[in-house]
Amino acid sequence: MQPSTHGRDVEEPAADAPAAAGNLPAAPAADPGLVGGSPPISPPLSSGAGASPVSPAGLFDAALAAPSELYRGSREILQDSFVPSRLPHREYQLHQVAEVLAPALRAELPSNLLIYGKIGTGKTAVVNQVRTEFLRRPEARARVQFIAFNCANVDTAYSLLQTIGNTFAAKEADRIPTGWSLDRVQAAMRDLIEARGMTVVLVLDEIDRLVKKSGDGVLYTLSQINTELEKGRVALIGISNDLKFTDGLDARVRSRLHEEKILFPPYEAPQLQDILRDRAREVFRDGVVEPGVIERCAAYAALENGDARRAISLLRLSAEIAERERAKRITPDHVVKAKNRYDLDVVVECVRSLPPHCKILLYAILQGYERRRGGVLTGEVYEGYTKLSQKLSLPPLHPRSISNYVIELESLGLIQANVVSRGRGGRTREIFVEVPVSETMRALEDDELLKVLARPRLLSQTLLTNFDNPNRTGPSYG
Ligand SMILES: Nc1ncnc2c1ncn2[C@@H]1O[C@H](COP(=O)(O)OP(=O)(O)OP(=O)(O)O)[C@@H](O)[C@H]1O
Ligand SMILES: [Mg+2]
Repeated sequence: MQPSTHGRDVEEPAADAPAAAGNLPAAPAADPGLVGGSPPISPPLSSGAGASPVSPAGLFDAALAAPSELYRGSREILQDSFVPSRLPHREYQLHQVAEVLAPALRAELPSNLLIYGKIGTGKTAVVNQVRTEFLRRPEARARVQFIAFNCANVDTAYSLLQTIGNTFAAKEADRIPTGWSLDRVQAAMRDLIEARGMTVVLVLDEIDRLVKKSGDGVLYTLSQINTELEKGRVALIGISNDLKFTDGLDARVRSRLHEEKILFPPYEAPQLQDILRDRAREVFRDGVVEPGVIERCAAYAALENGDARRAISLLRLSAEIAERERAKRITPDHVVKAKNRYDLDVVVECVRSLPPHCKILLYAILQGYERRRGGVLTGEVYEGYTKLSQKLSLPPLHPRSISNYVIELESLGLIQANVVSRGRGGRTREIFVEVPVSETMRALEDDELLKVLARPRLLSQTLLTNFDNPNRTGPSYG
């Protein structure tokens, strides 16, 4: 979980928030029935006594039959996979990438390029657009072969080299089979590139993941391959959102990758507004998006890393919530609800992935916090954790291990632990919860291990009743 996406309730950016965040319109009154919870689905149009039962087969008919009043274009325009026709505020980066690649059009070898910047700053979108424009040119198609990988989907260095080689295999017999040694695959790949005599532009998106999975050996192979080629050549474009990933690389690999570098800075709120307006114009009917909606989505996303993906997701979720409410327009209020839901989803996902004892510890913290409606001291937490473990018939872990879990929960942004002095009693830590209490407890109670702890639930209980302690004196969020 990104520390910036804690599942806390929507907070207005402070009055002295950076100008980059833009002007946030006045907060609409949050619907108490929805804060942080999923938006309710409107009741069926004909319900109640006497209504004819709807057969499961017709379950989607009503939803599909009612034409959406909000959309003019395909909803896919708000999906991550959509390729926009223009990329506002990335003109400089587009030109820089094009400049690095231009020598390939003159049959010269382009420099290797490293693109880095935080998530959602348009790195992949820019490279894709440059690639499309590049391949529009006939001389490029004749001389250059683009091969792009998202390294998140590449399992091993072996499969990477094999796939590159097989791109150039003219016939089945030339293909590199599985089962050869890595050295043999490497040599075969090199021969296949040489035989075709083209410039290969190899895009390694999320390159840091490749290094984490298989070390930097494969980058060494690829970055020095030109010394072994005469007709063919390889230029690398590495893309990463881990700004430090090159620190641990072999010095030769690092200097070769760093021949050219382009930084993608986070978007500022006014830039995100432009990006969102482009999408909104394409996807929504005129007048559907109320003033303040775009500004609010942009401001939230600007405060959280300037991530365009986040801004677009907020707009998409806001529209979905408006649609389910059968609203005729998307309002700033819908954006507030969308933000709460988005944040909560992130928290629930994070909580589910915790190790078992960490889940029990978090549950103990939440119980203590709920009871006190404020910070809990580590001693109380350990006591609560021990009781819960016993209830679950698990031997409790040593306090030192629990201290480590407290640090882990803090680094995930779920809690905040402040050191407090207790006079002669020494120092202890006071723990504040940074996420919606009831919802997080419920997410934990859904866990197989903790379900025996579940408290009775009301059917209609979908609210974050004690989302935050209004009287808390703990640290404020940035
Ligand atoms: N300038 C822009 N104009 C329009 N859409 C943009 C712009 N920048 C980013 N986007 C959109 O935002 C989303 C995220 O962009 P992209 O995938 O390029 O980010 P990234 O920097 O590669 O992120 P990550 O590091 O997570 O891979 C995509 O849907 C993309 O189309
Ligand atoms: Mg990307």
